[in-house]
Amino acid sequence: MRLSSLLTLACAIAALVLSLLCLFAGSSKSFLQDADLLTLNISRIGHGSLFNTTDGDGGALDNLLNTLEGDLNDLLNDFSSDVATALDLPDFFNVHVMDFCEGVYKPNATLKNAQENITGCSNRTVGFHFQPTKIIQEHLPDGVTLDDLHWPDEIRDAERAIRVASTAMTVLYILGVAFAGTAVLAALWSIFTNGRLSAMINFLMDALAFLAIGIASAIATAVIVKAVDAVNKYGDDIGIAAYKGGKFLGMTWAATAVMLFASVVSIAQCCAPRSRSRRYGEKDGY
Ligand SMILES: *[C@@H]1O[C@H](CO)[C@@H](O)[C@H](O)[C@H]1NC(C)=O
Ligand SMILES: *[C@@H]1O[C@H](CO)[C@@H](O)[C@H](O)[C@H]1NC(C)=O
Ligand SMILES: *[C@@H]1O[C@H](CO)[C@@H](O)[C@H](O)[C@H]1NC(C)=O
Ligand SMILES: *[C@@H]1O[C@H](CO)[C@@H](O)[C@H](O)[C@H]1NC(C)=O
Ligand SMILES: *[C@@H]1O[C@H](CO)[C@@H](O)[C@H](O)[C@H]1NC(C)=O
Repeated sequence: MRLSSLLTLACAIAALVLSLLCLFAGSSKSFLQDADLLTLNISRIGHGSLFNTTDGDGGALDNLLNTLEGDLNDLLNDFSSDVATALDLPDFFNVHVMDFCEGVYKPNATLKNAQENITGCSNRTVGFHFQPTKIIQEHLPDGVTLDDLHWPDEIRDAERAIRVASTAMTVLYILGVAFAGTAVLAALWSIFTNGRLSAMINFLMDALAFLAIGIASAIATAVIVKAVDAVNKYGDDIGIAAYKGGKFLGMTWAATAVMLFASVVSIAQCCAPRSRSRRYGEKDGY
């Protein structure tokens, strides 16, 4: 019996649950939408732009575009209007580890702390990385382009910069879940035995889970900071804003912290003098 392993068991279970939640938050419209990496608010997209759709040959299409241009410019000058909804775009995107969800603000987008009404989520994939440029381009009505909205190139650059990191992060969370799961089993084994082998395997699993979840958390933090800073720095002019996912960061760093604690406890078990039962000549179990 090694009661200190109850501590590592509790830590491993907590880290397993937390990293599973980080990985699967936002899997459905109603599951932990507030535990997203970041929220992108595009409700005022295009604000401050002037649409110029006059370049053409003067045909019927141009007349159509000119009408659209007038409407859009009126909309953009109205400070309380929801430009995104008028363009048939969602108001916001919640970006998660393996997918994103989109929705509209209720009762309206101008209200601070408006309610999020999620209208749909993308399919979940391990290789997921969020590409707002592509998504917004696909949603825009004919005749309106990203250039019309003055979509900044810097946001495209930031998307490219975090593409590989996003996939690495997802893979590390999956590894973290696997190691934390194994650490739960190792801790159970270690509770009922006194052997040095079980203590060492317990430590190995705790340390691997700590490393995987810790590196995943570091990458996630870097991705969040990089993306949110790029959007807020270059997107402010065109009415888009991004917010860091505080709940997600709390969950992922809490998982890292408990695995660090479990690693410290389990290495202490490895180095501790042999247990009393051994000294009294009882059979040493594994
Ligand atoms: C709109 O585009 C046309 C042709 O590219 C250009 O001649 C005109 O100056 C532009 N208007 C504004 C307001 O930018
Ligand atoms: C948004 O909703 C709030 C609360 O219902 C309301 O006070 C405000 O006037 C609305 N704003 C617009 C632009 O409709
Ligand atoms: C969304 O962004 C706009 C413009 O940046 C801002 O006025 C609005 O309050 C934001 N909405 C929410 C719900 O954060
Ligand atoms: C959310 O949006 C859907 C579709 O636009 C709508 O049917 C539903 O009533 C909305 N829910 C709330 C709480 O506003
Ligand atoms: C998402 O998955 C469903 C069912 O697996 C499939 O029918 C659909 O085409 C997929 N959507 C995208 C955008 O890949």
